Amino acid sequence: MSEEKFSHIPVLREEAVNLLMPRDGPCRLIDATLGYGGHSSLILERNKAAEVLGIDRDGDAIDGARENLRFAASRVHLARGSFSGLRGFMAESGWAYADGVLFDFGISSPQVDNPERGFSLRLDGPLDMRMDKRSPGTAGRFLNTADQGELERIFREYGEIRKARALARGIVERRKKRPFTRTLELVELCEELLGKSIPGRMPSSTLCFQALRIAVNDELREIETALDEAFLALRPGGRMVAISFHSLEDRMVKNFFRVKASECVCPPGFPICVCGKKSEIRILTKKPIVAGREELEKNRRASCAKLRAAEKI
Ligand SMILES: C[S@@+](CC[C@H](N)C(=O)[O-])C[C@H]1O[C@@H](n2cnc3c(N)ncnc32)[C@H](O)[C@@H]1O
Repeated sequence: MSEEKFSHIPVLREEAVNLLMPRDGPCRLIDATLGYGGHSSLILERNKAAEVLGIDRDGDAIDGARENLRFAASRVHLARGSFSGLRGFMAESGWAYADGVLFDFGISSPQVDNPERGFSLRLDGPLDMRMDKRSPGTAGRFLNTADQGELERIFREYGEIRKARALARGIVERRKKRPFTRTLELVELCEELLGKSIPGRMPSSTLCFQALRIAVNDELREIETALDEAFLALRPGGRMVAISFHSLEDRMVKNFFRVKASECVCPPGFPICVCGKKSEIRILTKKPIVAGREELEKNRRASCAKLRAAEKI
């Protein structure tokens, strides 16, 4: 891996690739969250006839993946941008359809471990949190300018924080004295307002950082659009695999699959079906796949991961 200092251990790598690529032979797969290419490298090593279109918002990730996937450069297309524009990137690569789309949501270890990116709760850095450094709004800007109601909403909806109102109020009070600039200032305020974290439990600031990160990167809207895009991109028989790291992401995938897999959606009590809806996908994972003990021993990040997969009919 490049960036030795900041490396990423791919989560549920074998499971994801086995579901995404059930057989050998020519295929076109989209890695919509390429990162440093951890999943894509296994696809390309395992199947010498596979091509990958790798998408990521983060320029550092694209550079890292280019290096890590050099062994199969002629089979790799790289696109820097948001996965909500998935079909636009396919068109640029001359792909009319895809055999599979992989999502491994969230942020990578190189993003978290580099304090300059502003995602870390442990290492002080600027309050940045942008996955794409070209986008204008940093976490600092959001924290210093959003009104109290908006702050409360994102803490409640994206962080599921019970004391969302108190946290929003505290932030507005604090920024009147001095604007926020550093990550550890926010960690300190979270501990003051939400209580110190209990050893072995999630630090109180984790949910606050999660909420801010989701808001800054518009993550949920991105996922909502991208799931539709991925479905439209797939040929019949093509597969979608999604790895989620928190309940909001997992719920979106689960609901998307449920609606697409459902037959008739007429209100209960209708004597005959008038909607005519047919199943559009077959769910391949009745329950989400989670990491086994061996993986968890090597990678703590895998502990929250849930993988769901489906096949287009
Ligand atoms: C968990 S990492 C992926 C790691 C990768 N599967 C690997 O094993 O090396 C998630 C990646 O998705 C990217 N990402 C998140 N949301 C995105 C979006 N809306 N559009 C494009 N890339 C996104 C992040 O920048 C990050 O690099």
